[in-house]
Amino acid sequence: MADAKHDLVIIGSGPGGYVAAIRAAQLGLSVGCVESDPALGGTCLRIGCIPSKALLESSERYHATKEALAPHGVRVASVSLDLPVMMKRKDEVVRGLTGGVDMLFKKNKVARYTGLGRIAGPGSVVVEGGAKTVTLETKNILIATGSKSSSLRGVTLDYDRVGTSTEALAYPEVPGHLAVIGAGYIGLEMGSVWLRLGAKVTVIEYLDRILPGMDAEIATEAFRLFKRQGMEFRLGQKVTGARPDGKGAVVECEGQEPLRADRVLLAVGRVPNTDGLGLEAVGITADERGRIPVDEHYRTGAEGVYAIGDVIGGAMLAHKASEEGVACVEWIATGYGHVNYDAIPGVVYTEPEIASVGRTEEELAAEGRAVKKGVFFFRGIGRSRALGQTDGRVKILADAATDRILGAHIIGPRAGDLIAEMVAAIEFGASSEDIARICHAHPTLSEAVKEAALAVDGRAIHA
Ligand code: NAI
Repeated sequence: MADAKHDLVIIGSGPGGYVAAIRAAQLGLSVGCVESDPALGGTCLRIGCIPSKALLESSERYHATKEALAPHGVRVASVSLDLPVMMKRKDEVVRGLTGGVDMLFKKNKVARYTGLGRIAGPGSVVVEGGAKTVTLETKNILIATGSKSSSLRGVTLDYDRVGTSTEALAYPEVPGHLAVIGAGYIGLEMGSVWLRLGAKVTVIEYLDRILPGMDAEIATEAFRLFKRQGMEFRLGQKVTGARPDGKGAVVECEGQEPLRADRVLLAVGRVPNTDGLGLEAVGITADERGRIPVDEHYRTGAEGVYAIGDVIGGAMLAHKASEEGVACVEWIATGYGHVNYDAIPGVVYTEPEIASVGRTEEELAAEGRAVKKGVFFFRGIGRSRALGQTDGRVKILADAATDRILGAHIIGPRAGDLIAEMVAAIEFGASSEDIARICHAHPTLSEAVKEAALAVDGRAIHA
């Protein structure tokens, strides 16, 4: 006998699950959302995007106050770090947002179940580990359980000296030396936080470049800028082991001397969360990388069971999960729902920010596509000069024959906000000419986007 009945039960309350829950409720479905953590919001809100951005903001302010105010004619007598206050602020930002999801659930009448959700069979989800075991009967099940940090063979995690991003969001002191394994999103963002707060940071990366998957020209510029900031890199080095050692840790790399550090951050990717989900009860088999296979409507193949977000293939990004959640429940409720995967932006919130959408120059070359390229440097933008943030460039790639924009890549001030225009451009099938003809306010950073669009056709004004 079920304790409650729903049209849709969502397992997981991250940006995939909670957004899907609200949208489904708006569409008139009776929705239950199962979450094992006492706070809603998933990895993104609790131990990912949001706390990292809070620390990136605070650490950048600390660093800029120390290093970047003098040229503005602002003299600061002394600057000191109050790490507990910085951490408390981060926790308050998280608390405010997770509490906000609670309020949105109440407003939209989404029923919340605290505990571990397990699929017991078709149309049945059991919630265990909470105050009491609850059985839910439902027409549809949506798996939105996200991902967790990958482990690496030979790396002994004690979640203190050798840990993941979760620990790196809450180190009790600034490490003297932080070794970061992996030069991806997490390694560079969290490495930046602790570098700004005074740590020596060494990033060890298996490949001979940073930010794999990003446009190589942009990643090369990022590498140069991070090195200039003092971040140290060991590229082309395969980490074969790491372990806590006394009050510090040791990292072993193939063919190299071991590296000693105070703390180690393992950031070599994430793997889908499917443990204990009961996939076998409905005949779902995860692929070799632990992902749940789905079709274009997020159907798993098991009747009435859907999956979205990090637990399926594709970029592991919060906003991609949210889009999929909305498309999935719209499809369930209305028969329509779609995500344009060519228009999913990616942003690395370092200083400067790095943002991209669509195809990279390398991808287009591999496809044999003839493209035109427009590049414009922020140093040619009046607002950049006024801000004192002149590093970086905007790069637009357009089809050589049709001029349709195929990709855009930005490194520079507020790149994460500037990319929105290029996402809209790709979504609407715009040409570089379309963007070049739009009036952009002066003096703003967005003028760099217009100039890059003009540069596609060799007619940038300030180049
Ligand atoms: P990632 O996939 O971005 O980068 C992992 C890096 O580790 C790669 O460069 C890889 O070559 C390297 N690596 C793998 N094995 C290695 C070894 N044995 N030795 C040395 N290097 C090795 O993964 P990351 O940074 O852990 O992020 C996980 C996910 O979280 C990503 O998919 C990312 O999209 C997402 N994320 C997104 C953020 C954002 O949108 N701003 C922020 C943080 C994470």
